[in-house]
Amino acid sequence: MYLVRLIYASRKPRDIVDDSINDILVSARKHNSANSITGLLCFNRKYFLQCIEGSRKKVNETYQRILKDERHEDIIMLDYCEIIKREFTDWSMGYIPDSSLTHDINLKFSGSSEFDPFEMSGESAHQMMLELKEQVPVVD
Ligand SMILES: Cc1cc2nc3c(=O)[nH]c(=O)nc-3n(C[C@H](O)[C@H](O)[C@H](O)COP(=O)(O)O)c2cc1C
Repeated sequence: MYLVRLIYASRKPRDIVDDSINDILVSARKHNSANSITGLLCFNRKYFLQCIEGSRKKVNETYQRILKDERHEDIIMLDYCEIIKREFTDWSMGYIPDSSLTHDINLKFSGSSEFDPFEMSGESAHQMMLELKEQVPVVD
């Protein structure tokens, strides 16, 4: 079973409340545990940046569902590749809140100190999430 990693960015629609992140995480963690998907989700109340890794079949099925979800829009794939091993094994979906998306980390991985994944390369987004995972509690 080939392992792949997929990274995408999206925007939160204006009419969706910030609190819906809790429902999104509950649903994501339930499905991902059942499908052996692991990953990380960053959200700053405006943009989402998510990495999912797992078998090619399950990652593709999961992404198809994510694309249909009306709680976000303008979804753009930043990176999709085969991988040798997972990097987010500890999380069925680790969460990075706004407070962790600091001036310094944005400046390190993008052209601005504001979090805007639409302005990031796939590899910068990947490297930023690898750095951010060091501060994610293992909750699953
Ligand atoms: C930003 C965002 C991230 C999501 N991440 C995942 C995910 O990692 N895995 C997953 O199965 N569903 C994820 N979803 C939810 C799916 O889009 C879809 O709503 C869900 O799989 C449907 O399951 P349910 O009918 O049990 O709620 C995400 C949705 C949003 C808006």
